[in-house]
Amino acid sequence: MTSPSAPLFQVENLHARPAVDDLDAATPPEILRGLNLTVNAGEVHAIMGPNGCGKSTFASCVLASPEYEVTEGRLVLHGDDITDWPTDVRAKAGIFLGFQYPQEIAGVSVIQFLRQALSARKGIDLSVLELRLATMDWMKRLGMDSSFVDRYLNEGFSGGEKKRNEIMQMAILEPDLAVLDETDSGLDIDALRIVAKGIREVRVDRPQMGVVLITHYQRLLDELAPDHVHVMVDGRIVASGGMEIAERLERDGYESFRS
Ligand SMILES: Nc1ncnc2c1ncn2[C@@H]1O[C@H](COP(=O)(O)OP(=O)(O)O)[C@@H](O)[C@H]1O
Ligand SMILES: [Mg+2]
Repeated sequence: MTSPSAPLFQVENLHARPAVDDLDAATPPEILRGLNLTVNAGEVHAIMGPNGCGKSTFASCVLASPEYEVTEGRLVLHGDDITDWPTDVRAKAGIFLGFQYPQEIAGVSVIQFLRQALSARKGIDLSVLELRLATMDWMKRLGMDSSFVDRYLNEGFSGGEKKRNEIMQMAILEPDLAVLDETDSGLDIDALRIVAKGIREVRVDRPQMGVVLITHYQRLLDELAPDHVHVMVDGRIVASGGMEIAERLERDGYESFRS
């Protein structure tokens, strides 16, 4: 049952490993090894961690990627245990994932994709014209040309265009929880500022939205001032705090967080 008093999103002792179809194959080791996280409505959380610690695996598990098997623990959204919910149901319930490496989809334009995603998420069937109007404002805010929505999804997009497109999707789909995986990677400082501004503007429109920012870099945190900063090492969160955690990371590196 959805509970109004429950936190927006809770991750309880999450363990996950790559899914294997081949029954004879050796069981792969766990990538996530007891991850805990609570995100309240309106909060921005940053997760920082070295390459390979499991950040993208976590993002994939939040949206139920078939690539991973959850072996222990729970994911709870608005008080509902969603651990067994498939991807489409989670998306409909309000979870948005911005990918580290957005996929190219040949032959599907940005606007066609948005139209389908919006229909799946909210059951709203906007005409292309209506959607075009809705996207125009966001494209302007994100510094994109209005012809952008007619291009094929991510085909030949620069790193910055891919990330801005993810932010526009987030703005249009109006999620309750947005998980943004390395939204800052591959961006120069100007593009990073535009993306950060886009995230801030979506939050102004949707102050209750929770955001989990997965990032390598202090720069994005300086722009977005998260409420909570977490350090992830070897598949679990080993330290949590405010911006002082990010400053300690900058100074001492991840080694100082390894036990
Ligand atoms: N589908 C998979 N099959 C096998 N190993 C995987 C798979 N996905 C991730 N891994 C491994 O799990 C570890 C964590 O990967 P990932 O979650 O992408 O880390 P991060 O995003 O923090 O850099 C890495 O060692 C990676 O090689
Ligand atoms: Mg990653």
